[in-house]
Amino acid sequence: MSVVSKEIRGNVAILTVNNPPVNALSHAVRDGLLNQMQALATDDTVQAIVVACAGRTFIAGADITEFGKPMQAPSLPTVVDAIENMPKPVVAAIFGTALGGGLEVALGCHYRVGAEDAKIGLPEVKLGLLPGAGGTQRFPRIAGVENALDAIVSGRHISAKQANSWGVFDGLVDAVAGGSTSALVDAAVALAIEKIPAGPRPTGQMEIDNSKYDEAFFAGFRKSVARQTRGYFAPEQCIQAIEAASRLPLAEGMEAERKLFMACMTNPQSRALQHMFFAERQVGRIPGITKETPRRTIAKVGIIGAGTMGGGIAMNFVNAGIPVTILELQEEALERGLKVVRGNYERSMKRGKLTQAQVDDRMALFTGTLEYEALSDCDLIIEAVFEKMEIKQQVFSKLDEVAKEGAILASNTSYLDIDEIASYTNRPGDVLGLHFFSPANVMRLLEIVRTSKTADDVLATCVGLAKQIGKVGVVAGVCHGFIGNRMLARYGHVSALAVIEGNTPQEVDAALFDFGMPMGPLTMSDMAGLDIGYMNRQSMGRENYDTTAYDWQDKIVELGRKGLKVGAGIYDYDEGSRVPKPSAEIQQVIDGESARLGITRAKKTAEEIVELSMLALVNEGAKILGEGKAYRASDIDVVYANGYGFPPYRGGPMHYADIMGLDVVLAKLQALSTAKPDMWQVAPLIEKLAADGKSFAAFDRENASK
Ligand code: 3HC
Ligand code: NAI
Repeated sequence: MSVVSKEIRGNVAILTVNNPPVNALSHAVRDGLLNQMQALATDDTVQAIVVACAGRTFIAGADITEFGKPMQAPSLPTVVDAIENMPKPVVAAIFGTALGGGLEVALGCHYRVGAEDAKIGLPEVKLGLLPGAGGTQRFPRIAGVENALDAIVSGRHISAKQANSWGVFDGLVDAVAGGSTSALVDAAVALAIEKIPAGPRPTGQMEIDNSKYDEAFFAGFRKSVARQTRGYFAPEQCIQAIEAASRLPLAEGMEAERKLFMACMTNPQSRALQHMFFAERQVGRIPGITKETPRRTIAKVGIIGAGTMGGGIAMNFVNAGIPVTILELQEEALERGLKVVRGNYERSMKRGKLTQAQVDDRMALFTGTLEYEALSDCDLIIEAVFEKMEIKQQVFSKLDEVAKEGAILASNTSYLDIDEIASYTNRPGDVLGLHFFSPANVMRLLEIVRTSKTADDVLATCVGLAKQIGKVGVVAGVCHGFIGNRMLARYGHVSALAVIEGNTPQEVDAALFDFGMPMGPLTMSDMAGLDIGYMNRQSMGRENYDTTAYDWQDKIVELGRKGLKVGAGIYDYDEGSRVPKPSAEIQQVIDGESARLGITRAKKTAEEIVELSMLALVNEGAKILGEGKAYRASDIDVVYANGYGFPPYRGGPMHYADIMGLDVVLAKLQALSTAKPDMWQVAPLIEKLAADGKSFAAFDRENASK
């Protein structure tokens, strides 16, 4: 079957795009659509046309794999214009996801019929772009300027029902839900026949009443999205393109769109965001795991510990409809844990995201227990108890006794050796790490820690499960802190040292906030609790870490200032406030410690702080990669963007290093290593890749083809 086939039904031609998996608008599809349209324009036997799709979805966008390569004509705007200029009515039959260029094709059509469960969207902004085939000009004409701003600047998916209320559809049919699209196509054909007398209705010729869309209106919109769009390039270009649509006729608006689109395309952010898009889709590719690897059924989950993590972890499964039994040591702890969960759901209800009935249904999926026997029918049991090996040992020995055969046993440990944890059972193949991030019901990242003995089907099951519960699951090997926290330690080291050597905490935080991090590292330490690092250092012993960097933080903890939870840490906090305020008392502690250590305080610039922080992340990331504790550099980028808020528009630390050039990274690391050899041992992988003139991306590509 050709990528765009034609079927004649009476006087209607049905063009069907068939380009699996998502009918992306590759060169062949664009060419096929244009040729068919040109032939049909002069075919007198055909009086109306339907554009339909085979497979699982309507066209889901331009073919992203073609970005960055020379464009092969015809361009998408040419194809969409040709459709809009057809002398006979053209109807789009939409199901699945009509996204980006796919929706632009549908907007080029004169009428649209959709399945009730279809979704539409213009997600280009998420790839650092704007809809570049007339989407910014046609969507406001059909859906209104406010709705266009909402859709295009957020890039979110919009349900067919909502889009219908905006005027995007001319009719909806029953949900397709993965089944046959024949009823949809029939409805599109019927509409096409009905519209033959009326003829085409070009979207581009629709008028926008621009009397209320003055500068103040757009300024107000910019302000309303400023927080979400901080640091991003494309959202402002989207707004300007829509502004052009509200003021200019189609042809001039298209010219403005083209210029703004090219500005996005050539901005490094679009490359970084496209890297993130593919990186997230790579994480599921795991050596030794194939489609044929068997999966275990997970119908019931057990959680041990209803503390900070246990409750949030449980919510993920309940939200996916999987019942959870949650075990605690004492009734009070259980009740406290479940109360926090209910509180979370009730907050969602207040924000209009859940109904009372949904809250009740979800709470009904929780069973609390104090008895291990209650976990005997669970298919997966996740432990989230205190971070102490002796306690994990007790828990896993007990689980070995009660868990049914074939149950997967997981630990949410942040740092402990999961191989050792597995050794406390007689079924180490069933054990792995499932490391959620706090708050576990919100953060998208899940590190799936594969031990030397984890069975392939256990790993494959958990990788699938991550997707099912809406997480991005990245596989890591066993090492101290796995991927994310191991790198975080090096990042924290840089900021702690910068403070003792001369900068204020707020200067360090501001440098990294301005770089695009959601908050600076010292604000983050206050939020996580300074006592965690303190206890960790106590257990390590002073000879095993850089005391110069951390003594000032220990002093702060010893003053009882454990961070946000007690209203005082590195920063001061007003009663009930989470906003950090510089603390004169702490600055005195810092200055006193600098003097005690004989340090002549000297300030680093914001650029130097950012550079050192990035080099620390990249160097540790390269060690993790070189040791095989991560499968790809791009997996590390996914970890950092989804677990630590690294700005996606910078593509993650490893992509950032590729953009700097690994030869430059190596030279900088070598200079640092000469000055502070203990802190900056250069990763052998960086030395090797730089010597070969290669990048992390090249490393990933070579490994993928092995
Ligand atoms: N181009 C090329 N490949 C694409 C693609 C696209 N637009 N969209 C998805 N794919 C590929 C994925 O890489 C993946 O490939 P793989 O199996 O080899 O890893 C495969 O299709 C399936 O994708 P998902 O795993 O994401 O499948 P889901 O069912 O979970 O999601 C989807 C489907 C909602 C369509 C999701 O893939 C998606 O959001 N795609 C991107 C849509 C998009 O951003 N479109 C706009 C493109 S830019 C544009 O159109 C510019 C224009 O304005 C000029
Ligand atoms: P927490 O102290 O908030 O909760 C632990 C809970 O486990 C308590 O309610 C306690 O009563 C219960 N518990 C202790 N021993 C138990 C046992 N033998 N049987 C049943 N219940 C028991 O701790 P938190 O923060 O939830 O951490 C749990 C685990 O998750 C730790 O391993 C931690 O390293 C890890 N983790 C923590 C993160 C965080 O940000 N807090 C992030 C990621 C992982």
